[in-house]
Amino acid sequence: MISRREFMLRASAVGVAGVVRPLLSWGADESPAIPGKHGMIVRSLRFLDLEMPAEYGNSLITPVEHFFVRNHMHEPSTVDAGEWRLSIGGDVEKPLTLTLAQLTKMEQRTVINTLECAGNGRAFAVPHVPGVQWEKGAVGTARFSGPRLRDVLERAGVRQTGKHVMFRGLDEVPGKVPAFIRSIPIEKATDGDTLVALHMNGVALIKHHGFPARALVPGWMGAASCKWLAEIKVLDKEFEGNFMCPGYRMPNHPVKPGEAVKVEDTHPATALNVKSMITSPRDGASVKSRSVHVQGVAWAGEADIASVEVSTDSGATWQLAQLGMEQSHYAWRLWSYSWNAPKPGAYTIMSRATDTQGRIQPDSVQWNPSGYLINIVDRVQIHVQA
Ligand code: MTE
Repeated sequence: MISRREFMLRASAVGVAGVVRPLLSWGADESPAIPGKHGMIVRSLRFLDLEMPAEYGNSLITPVEHFFVRNHMHEPSTVDAGEWRLSIGGDVEKPLTLTLAQLTKMEQRTVINTLECAGNGRAFAVPHVPGVQWEKGAVGTARFSGPRLRDVLERAGVRQTGKHVMFRGLDEVPGKVPAFIRSIPIEKATDGDTLVALHMNGVALIKHHGFPARALVPGWMGAASCKWLAEIKVLDKEFEGNFMCPGYRMPNHPVKPGEAVKVEDTHPATALNVKSMITSPRDGASVKSRSVHVQGVAWAGEADIASVEVSTDSGATWQLAQLGMEQSHYAWRLWSYSWNAPKPGAYTIMSRATDTQGRIQPDSVQWNPSGYLINIVDRVQIHVQA
């Protein structure tokens, strides 16, 4: 195990992508103190990237201290809520700026949303793909609230020509790194659940999650939800920066593992895939009793979960899990399965979700060059003692 100082040195020596190999990640008990966070797996400190250990995903709402963090660059060093302004411009009738107080006075909407990084599960891609080597926990569910983006746009009056809405955050951009600017289509921007979020789980956003305001684009990959929002611009076409193209694009057709894909054969990644995660027992656990309570969560972006199946024999047979009562569109669904192990020994437990669009988690990684939206069936290995 490397020391914290050594980690800092190695972490600061990595390239502009801020990539740190999983070898350099800490176990949950040893992670350095990061204000507002607890027990996280550190994927990068240069640009803060924190993964949630799967066992913290065992509730509908993920506490902020366990919520993953994904930063492409440095967080703004200071944001003064009094000085901060949100500007709305581009293809609008009346460009305007709003203060935090003005946004707070607008009608507030709450959306419980499962936010997942497009790269969650990238570490399972074979062959290896570059980028943060997220395993299972670049995902979490929170209650976000703030004014609807639609209401904010209405104040400015979107022109007929306005087809896409661009977000710019206040990230501190090091050197030649392109700024994190992306856009979403006007239809999604004006959906009643797309927010300028000010609160997360009932309290003001903390800095790691975009204080004082972030976009919240429910059901879509996390990259759509720009943090430290400072500018909203209505455009007549999709924004053309690095994080729209070549970044965050999916191949139009399935590709063979390791195959290169031309940018013309890709489209922007948007909604999340159907996916499940086993939260208990933990991978590698040694359980005392043969009676095992398997628990987890499942989510499906803009769709809902139809069923979750569990296998306790490495995928040979599958049984239906019981879905939790709590349901909220865009939020993951809790599930559980009670199982009696036939004898002591080693077992692989797997989970597989199906959604209301008929999508089902695949048995193998749907490989793509950036390792996006990987949703292979989840699995943990456990040892039943007696
Ligand atoms: N917004 C800005 N301004 N800068 C960023 O680096 N990262 C995006 C998105 N919004 C990012 C951003 C990505 S890739 C993800 S997955 C989510 O924020 C993560 O949100 P979180 O850190 O609040 O969990």
